[in-house]
Amino acid sequence: MKAIADIKLAPSILAADFTRLGDQVAEAERAGADRIHIDIMDGHFVPNITMGAPVVQSLRKVTSLRLEIHMMITDPDFFLDEFVKAGSDSFIVHWEGNNNLHRTVQRVKALQKQVGVAINPATPAAVLEEILPDLDQVLVMTVNPGFGHQPFIYSTLPKIRRVSHMIAETKQECELEVDGGIDEVTAQLTVDAGANVLVAGSAIFGANVGVCAAMQRLRSGLRSNLDRVSTGSGSDLVRPSTFMKERLCS
Ligand code: DX5
Ligand code: ZN
Repeated sequence: MKAIADIKLAPSILAADFTRLGDQVAEAERAGADRIHIDIMDGHFVPNITMGAPVVQSLRKVTSLRLEIHMMITDPDFFLDEFVKAGSDSFIVHWEGNNNLHRTVQRVKALQKQVGVAINPATPAAVLEEILPDLDQVLVMTVNPGFGHQPFIYSTLPKIRRVSHMIAETKQECELEVDGGIDEVTAQLTVDAGANVLVAGSAIFGANVGVCAAMQRLRSGLRSNLDRVSTGSGSDLVRPSTFMKERLCS
């Protein structure tokens, strides 16, 4: 039986209110976020520009959560040291556009940070085969990278399932994260497919109910899945006892 140790929520600050970024991150932490997902875009790798290491440095002062850096930039190696100095805990680099992915991955490891590789919707799972044993996480993009608030691409679900099986075959500890268009419906679908870390931006920071209530809403979408699993009528991918952290909203 394949049991997922935990389902983790990774709020993406791309959708946060930047005038109150520290407060929003603190609220996500109080609400039981596992980590903070920070999208770095350079206007070349993706058609959008976001933020750099100074934002990470500021956030480091307001949270003890893991700061996960999603590098959507053409030369991730060049910026690694700066982001580490700013207080980053883990890096996700893209397979696309990186001719020396193995080198990049080894550089992150040499900096003693966790490392993941992301693949875009059109990139097949098979490209991960050789690099997988070196990874702490795989990120399957469920939208094309560059923007928040895009619709979930359903054709990525079989790929999530494939990556999940590939990880199981290696018998290693490797997270399977999904990013883009995650809401209370698609969260359940990706967990069914084998994901155990869910990145969510607009569903958490863009919801008009507040960060904590929005995170609860995401969890409740999963709860119905877990109920179904616990009655024995569904797959055995998730056990109720390993459900993600719960917090009450004040
Ligand atoms: C997209 C980013 C995502 C983005 C997700 O390129 O990598 O992390 O913030 O936003 P939502 O959850 O709104 O799709
Ligand atoms: Zn991201």
